[in-house]
Amino acid sequence: MSDLGRRPVAEPAGHSSTTLKRCCAAAYDHDAVKLLVGDPLHPGGAQLTERLGRILNLGPQTRVLDVAAGRGASALILAARFGCEVVGLDYSWRNVEAARHQAGEQGLDGMVAFYCGDAERLPFADGDFDAIVCECALCTFPDKGAAAAEFARVLRPGGRVGVSDLTRHGSLPRELEGLEAWIACIADARPLEEYSALLSAAGLNVGVKEEHDRALIDFVERIRLLLLTAEIMVGLKKVELAGIDLSVVKDIARHALAAAKAGNLGYAIVTATKDNDRSSQPTGDEVRARP
Ligand SMILES: C[S@@+](CC[C@H](N)C(=O)[O-])C[C@H]1O[C@@H](n2cnc3c(N)ncnc32)[C@H](O)[C@@H]1O
Repeated sequence: MSDLGRRPVAEPAGHSSTTLKRCCAAAYDHDAVKLLVGDPLHPGGAQLTERLGRILNLGPQTRVLDVAAGRGASALILAARFGCEVVGLDYSWRNVEAARHQAGEQGLDGMVAFYCGDAERLPFADGDFDAIVCECALCTFPDKGAAAAEFARVLRPGGRVGVSDLTRHGSLPRELEGLEAWIACIADARPLEEYSALLSAAGLNVGVKEEHDRALIDFVERIRLLLLTAEIMVGLKKVELAGIDLSVVKDIARHALAAAKAGNLGYAIVTATKDNDRSSQPTGDEVRARP
């Protein structure tokens, strides 16, 4: 395997890879996340998840793996919209339990299943899935090359993967380089071309690439409003945000919005297919603006 994605397996500031994963999982299974970020936990929300599903040609015959599924919002959207079977995997047990609960509430527990595990060591057999989605999470994995190799391993020949993630261009202010910014999907985000190269290095054939930068700006603007609301509610003692320093989160959101508006942060989709079977797959290999 190439060295791509293996660069920062123990950053920032010397945090081990396990610490990074645990901190990320703990941040996203905190009770306050829904209040501060919403759900799904990625730019573009349900609309961009459906777009990914359409590009990947999901349908009732497709068995899909959602890597880093959070509380299951995207898995449930895909199952309801495309009739596919979806297995969601997340590093956090709390998120897995919340996702299972949501599936039951929505009457979709016959179509979806959720498990706890690590994207860099997927607990599934070779060739187990027709399709994989991974939204707003590859940027947080310390060993991105290992995760991409795992995507390739658990896909059947002809299977396809769709990644959507934050993209980063050039240098960012130091407020967007620390552990909190890593967890916020910013510090270790890569340019779109690097995500493509990671999938290629794992032996996959890159297909569609789409830039959705506006979705990131809208997402961060919405988060800033949610933070304002949360601050007021904390002041009124209506909610408690144990363990969360709102001023740090607000600072990151402010800098992230400026970076997104300056074009240094964006959001993008990249898809790839296993082997060379592209008969039913998209073949565009140029960067496209959102249609
Ligand atoms: C920004 S959230 C995205 C969740 C979901 N994909 C969505 O878009 O709503 C990142 C998620 O990645 C999970 N995660 C982080 N590192 C992981 C790993 N190594 N393996 C599996 N899940 C991981 C976290 O627990 C969290 O739920």
